[in-house]
Amino acid sequence: MMLGAELSALLRASNPLRRPISRSWTCLPCRHANYRFQQRRGITTSTPGDHKKPYYVTTPIFYVNAAPHVGHLYTIVLADILKRWQLLLGNTDAKLLTGTDEHGMKIQQAAEAQGMTPQALCDTNCQTFKSLATACNASYDHFIRTTEETHKEAVRHFWEMLQHRGYIYTAKHEGWYSVSDETFYPASAVQPTLDPATGRKRITSIETGKEVEWSSEENYHFRLSAFQDRLLEYYDKNPDFIRPNTYMRQIVQVVSSGLQDLSISRPSTRLSWGIGVPGDETQTIYVWLDALVNYLTYAGYPFPPGQESRHIWPADVQVVGKDIIRFHCIYWPAFLMALDLPLPRNILAHAHWTINHAKMSKSTGNVVNPMFAIERFGIDGMRYFLARDGPMTNDSDYDNHFIAERYKKGLQWGLGNTTSRLLRPRRWKVGKCVSWATQGQLPEETDLDMEQREMLEDLPEQVQIEMDNLNPRKALDHIMGAVAQISKYFQATEPWNMADRVDPDQPSELGHVIFNIAESQRIAGILLQPFMPEKAARLLDMLGVARTTEKRSFKAATYGSDRDYGIPLIKLGRGVEGTLFPPLMTYD
Ligand code: ME8
Ligand code: MG
Repeated sequence: MMLGAELSALLRASNPLRRPISRSWTCLPCRHANYRFQQRRGITTSTPGDHKKPYYVTTPIFYVNAAPHVGHLYTIVLADILKRWQLLLGNTDAKLLTGTDEHGMKIQQAAEAQGMTPQALCDTNCQTFKSLATACNASYDHFIRTTEETHKEAVRHFWEMLQHRGYIYTAKHEGWYSVSDETFYPASAVQPTLDPATGRKRITSIETGKEVEWSSEENYHFRLSAFQDRLLEYYDKNPDFIRPNTYMRQIVQVVSSGLQDLSISRPSTRLSWGIGVPGDETQTIYVWLDALVNYLTYAGYPFPPGQESRHIWPADVQVVGKDIIRFHCIYWPAFLMALDLPLPRNILAHAHWTINHAKMSKSTGNVVNPMFAIERFGIDGMRYFLARDGPMTNDSDYDNHFIAERYKKGLQWGLGNTTSRLLRPRRWKVGKCVSWATQGQLPEETDLDMEQREMLEDLPEQVQIEMDNLNPRKALDHIMGAVAQISKYFQATEPWNMADRVDPDQPSELGHVIFNIAESQRIAGILLQPFMPEKAARLLDMLGVARTTEKRSFKAATYGSDRDYGIPLIKLGRGVEGTLFPPLMTYD
């Protein structure tokens, strides 16, 4: 049996975040009291009761010009993890909004190309986005469509208020417009290119590579330039407004270099599919102004006077791709400032999935169908992969082999294997070990046992810190790091050899090992619920953790806090059927 210094060093090396080990031995109830105290002290930002209003998470609303791809799945999953994390903390009124962006030139043209009315196209295509949100187990509270009447009313009111406050004026607008990006670009942001497929000369956006067309028209403008200083001051005072910080730096740079007023309508003769400008039916409201207001529509905008404290706005976190940070981090805050409405607390931006290093995109068509991916890897296999390896600051090339590797190493051979090796043998009784350990009936623990215990005691706080930082990826790394460490401990302590020497009905040193392994699975199972809701629930069922909110909440992820589990709630089953993470079907 490999024990002592060598193994301790090995285990420590695998977890660089471990704090120095305290050598003093404290009894279990005292340790719990201590830990709870630390929890109360160190974790203040998102404990239940802190938020007067419900925690509010949003995804972008997606264009319905074509079917969703893995990029959309990724954003929805990230947002859902953040919402489910709040549920785990006990914030049971947390809200998640997702939906579809259905107006604008892009949709008008897509409908024309398919010989459909825009409404028919939206009615059909919004369903594929809704099905995706359902298929990935997103716990959304509402699926908004911008063609809904309540939303149109909210947008008209928003417009009228901007106008009333003098932020809108008419002027001739000349510039390059990209229908695909639904964006005007100045001459400095476009360049002539050759279409590689046809050899045709065209003008494209330098940033996105999408084709632009010259436009010269009379339309309404928003006084965006008036907000430059206020925006810079806001970023300065709220340095964590945009996460990760690289995006904050980019936005500060853009705003510092100067803001031009923004064109916020198009002539109805060109763009008819949208919301008419109140009092001027010759103009249609720019799709981005229309779309951004969706976050307020769900919150009940226009807010009845005196009811400001009763609605869920501002959003706590708005998850977006880096392609649309300009809209969410510059235009959106400026619109809100213009109306003295509170700004979202955080924008969480992420980078892009690419295929052969080109952005996966509906309009280009280089996409991975998210439904196929879900079918192949299981929804929780996909959620796990997206949360663990999804691009945050740098783009990632999408690769099925890598997903399969992640699945095998982390889930099938890691978490899944440890669970079955813990629960299947008859040489020990998990329930008995749990009750001996939590009632102080075991002999003294070894240094190695103590290390595992301390690692598990630290885990929830480390995860919580990362989730507070809106970094689910690092949070998941901590959980899976603990799972990996415990599997090494399992291997090193060889409890199956110890079991030969002891009576499974009598407390012995074997109890610490089995209890630590059981606790690692229970704590990981609780903390994994936001990431892999179905698999985590199944894991907790297998361990026999009661199906109550209390026993499966963040608080219950405290080492030693559940004295009463260990007898499976479901039949474990034999073979592949009974495994938590069955082998993947291989078909390439
Ligand atoms: O922009 N990788 O809608 P959209 C990762 N309607 N995420 C990706 C991605 C990729 N390759 N491609 C898309 C719009 N996404 C507007 C939004 S909000 C008021 C209006 C995700 O259909 C990512 O979240 O083009 C990106 O920001 C969003 O889908 C854009 O979706
Ligand atoms: Mg797009």
